[in-house]
Amino acid sequence: MTDKPLLRVLHGEALWPPPIWLMRQAGRYLPEYRAARAQVRDLVVAFTSPDLATDITLQPIRRYGMDAAILYSDILILPWALGHGLEFRESVGPVMPKLRDQAGLDALEPAGFADRVAPVIETVRRVTAALRDHHPATALIGFAGAPFTVACYMVEGGGSRDHAEVRGLAYRDPALFARLIDRLTEATIDYLAWQAEAGAEALMLFDSWAGVLPPTLFAAYVIDPAMRIAAALRARCPGIPLIGFPRLAGSQLAGYAARAGLDAVGMDTATDPVWAATAIDRRIALQGNLDPLLLVAGGQALRDEALGLRGALRGRPHIFNLGHGIVPETPTDHVGQLVDLVRTA
Ligand code: CP3
Repeated sequence: MTDKPLLRVLHGEALWPPPIWLMRQAGRYLPEYRAARAQVRDLVVAFTSPDLATDITLQPIRRYGMDAAILYSDILILPWALGHGLEFRESVGPVMPKLRDQAGLDALEPAGFADRVAPVIETVRRVTAALRDHHPATALIGFAGAPFTVACYMVEGGGSRDHAEVRGLAYRDPALFARLIDRLTEATIDYLAWQAEAGAEALMLFDSWAGVLPPTLFAAYVIDPAMRIAAALRARCPGIPLIGFPRLAGSQLAGYAARAGLDAVGMDTATDPVWAATAIDRRIALQGNLDPLLLVAGGQALRDEALGLRGALRGRPHIFNLGHGIVPETPTDHVGQLVDLVRTA
């Protein structure tokens, strides 16, 4: 068995103080990240360069010693590796072709998938070795985007405000949309299994846009794929803990937690942790959910809210985190203060 605090909580133990890591902990708020990125302008190249990606994954661990490292990659590497184009444009974000019909689905190239993700799997191997040698209490989290959120970017051709195109397609051509979700579900199972086989000790599914769906579509395209992914991974990688994060799901988080078959669920910033603690079975760990803007503000507000959140979930399995990713404006000192504060007995 393991001594790593993150894994103990994922196996159902309530630890005090709780383990902590932060979404987007390897990112632009860190000067060493900006320096590393200055060498490689193209983000897809950065995500698929094992030397650089290993170094960036470990940056926040060296600085703050979090309980988890999260692989430096991106949820859009999966569609890219399926042969769907991807470009990260400065101050625009990700841009992709728009997949709106069967021809778009047929254009995917699943045959090249394993080769294209090979550098990411190599990064998992290298980070695993580095943690074993230098940070033995820190666990490595591998991840993928959940099929619905990845489909959002593929159908919209990038980020979107209202996700009208993706919801429109799901209503207009449910058979095509279901085939797209199926293809992504199959690829996600392989991709996560490969990460686990290379050393990832927990796996997380990011469903950032789950909350734009009404209950019928939420069941079909958020809960059902999560169930299929969890069941397949239980069979292929027995014992690996699974975390799901259906962001902005609101009260649908409870049904997701009850049915998806995961070990932990992430709470976004708007979720009341006291509600989640009663609505969700105690055997499922809760992860989250401090407002990332408190980490920018710092001071008394940060202290009060962080200690309040920690105290509210005392006695049940909880992984301290933010409700969404760290924003680039975050002062590095505030991150260190938060880690120290959460770890004070
Ligand atoms: O959390 C981590 O430190 C691990 C790495 C990670 C990244 N992206 C690196 C990244 C993870 C887990 C993600 C997930 C991701 N990517 C999500 C789900 C979580 C969420 O934020 O809702 C989504 C929706 C994406 C898609 C994505 N990637 C967008 C919209 C953007 C551009 C916006 C932005 O912040 O610049 C990215 C780029 C990206 N992925 C960056 C990082 C660190 C910014 C990189 C840079 O400019 O150097």
